[in-house]
Amino acid sequence: MKTERVVVVTGAAGGIGRQIVKKFLDNGYFACMLDIAEEPIAKAIEEMGFDGSKVKGYAIDISSEEKVKEVIAKIIEDCGRIDALVNAAGICGKYAPTIDYTFENFKRIYEINAFGTFLMMKYTLPQMVEQKKGAIVNFGSVSGMTGYTWEIGYGSSKWAVIGMTKNVANEYGGMGIRANSVSPGWVDTNMLKVSLDDFEAITGAADITLGPMGRVATPAEIANGVYWLCTDDASYVNSTNLLIDGGMMLG
Ligand SMILES: NC(=O)c1ccc[n+]([C@@H]2O[C@H](COP(=O)([O-])OP(=O)(O)OC[C@H]3O[C@@H](n4cnc5c(N)ncnc54)[C@H](O)[C@@H]3O)[C@@H](O)[C@H]2O)c1
Repeated sequence: MKTERVVVVTGAAGGIGRQIVKKFLDNGYFACMLDIAEEPIAKAIEEMGFDGSKVKGYAIDISSEEKVKEVIAKIIEDCGRIDALVNAAGICGKYAPTIDYTFENFKRIYEINAFGTFLMMKYTLPQMVEQKKGAIVNFGSVSGMTGYTWEIGYGSSKWAVIGMTKNVANEYGGMGIRANSVSPGWVDTNMLKVSLDDFEAITGAADITLGPMGRVATPAEIANGVYWLCTDDASYVNSTNLLIDGGMMLG
């Protein structure tokens, strides 16, 4: 069993995920880095300069129940504990007006963002229940708090994530486990780039609303909020949806 605390991060090779891993490593954790394939995980470890003895990569499609079950069992075998679970893996899919939004696109977004998050919690919770302690942070979005255009699948999948976080917070809050979500505004990652490309294709302009601070977030600014939710400083924070949007949702 690991003597240091263990965090499991999905989407760990991504723009925000890798900064989450860094934040936990900087605070003495061992990090299990989950992402779709081994190659991006190895690339993230190299680019971030992570100490190879403090991280382990696991290639996984989180929308596969079989794979989630298998990988969580392997993590428990490797580490003996899971102190924090951060579900950062997600896709925005293809933006389009609802009448052009394909069902395939809609379904794939749900499979990853909503069902993947559910599966990761379902198979991690038994370990946390046994430990009588654990913290879960899921990824919502400002898109899961309103009704933006051209993202009926993405936005509603994030409403689902924010909602199911509350189900878990309610069911397991009495067992030492806290579940919260974060909802970022725009963050400087590949997902933002993909979104801008789609917006340009639809409207002819790569335009986004920035809110009062006039800039997008850095991935590290999101990681700070995620980490805080997993610390004992947030020991009475359960079921909340932490908005990290620079005030964009002010209206
Ligand atoms: N970037 C933004 O502006 C923004 C805003 C609000 C919320 N978010 C949310 O933040 C989270 C992280 O996004 P990001 O901006 O870092 O994007 P990103 O594209 O940089 O990272 C997402 C990661 O998830 C991984 N992933 C995708 N499908 C997967 C699957 N089936 N199984 C395992 N891993 C999978 C990808 O390989 C990638 O590494 C997502 O949940 C996203 O919806 C992002």
